[in-house]
Amino acid sequence: MNVYRTIADMRTARSKCSNSFGLVPTMGYLHEGHLSLVRRARAENAVCAAWIFVNPAQFGPGEDFERYPQDERRDIELLEREGVDVLFTPAANEVYPEGFSSYVEVRRVTERLEGASRPGHFRGVATVVTKFFHVMQPTRAYFGQKDAQQVVVIKRLVRDLDFGVEIVVCPTVREPDGLALSSRNAYLERAERKAATVLYRALMRAQDRWAQGQRKADTLRREMRGVVETQPLAHLDYVSVAHPETLEELDVIRGAALVSLAVYIGHTRLIDNIMLTEDL
Ligand code: PAJ
Repeated sequence: MNVYRTIADMRTARSKCSNSFGLVPTMGYLHEGHLSLVRRARAENAVCAAWIFVNPAQFGPGEDFERYPQDERRDIELLEREGVDVLFTPAANEVYPEGFSSYVEVRRVTERLEGASRPGHFRGVATVVTKFFHVMQPTRAYFGQKDAQQVVVIKRLVRDLDFGVEIVVCPTVREPDGLALSSRNAYLERAERKAATVLYRALMRAQDRWAQGQRKADTLRREMRGVVETQPLAHLDYVSVAHPETLEELDVIRGAALVSLAVYIGHTRLIDNIMLTEDL
């Protein structure tokens, strides 16, 4: 695997290769969720690339940027083992040098859910994705359904600004008890880890009620809130039953719905979602 740490080196390497180029963007501390994206990119492209960059621009003040978990040696070993060809892992001052002043803003779909709870978050995501897509010029880029709103935002960005990159969305990888894999799960203490299953249980409650024929979004939201409230270590940020593309909250579910929630388990903020579709 070739590891590049500067934009100049990455650009030079990319310009020498004209094959299909599959890219997996990450912030590192890799787990099976990330690796599922890597495997798909590996299978579908001549060249498989990843980036690891803990992007300061997408963290708000008081969030976990300074303590975000990192283990570069282990990440590189895992990527080598998966047969990744190219890793781009620049330092923060390479990406945001002194005087950096240009940001990419996606409107509307960034205003709700994560965007409402984490102001500026998607501006940071859209900016780093734009910048690294320019440098790495992927033919395809792989993202996880785990971050459902991120997928909506990036698809919007790529469409609006004609990036000509195919966005491939991969299913959420879970622990046997339903907890979605996340680098932030590393923050959880033992009791918190147990409590964290409440997110998946709330989603399953909504799915059950929906399967029984319930189509009132508010009833599903109330049921999910009820599940989260049974867990003393959990503190709800939001529950949502929204249109999968506009992310507007639904009144009555007709067709598909994105059911999502954000919950603090102790100090750790976790998110999860499922899609309800008629062919479930
Ligand atoms: P990060 O949280 O490291 O996630 C990298 C990619 O892995 C994202 O597309 C995310 O949706 C996916 N992913 C995470 N957990 C997953 C799981 N359990 N199952 C399937 N996929 C999973 O998302 C980011 O980084 C950043 O915002 C980034 C796009 C790299 C921009 O900085």
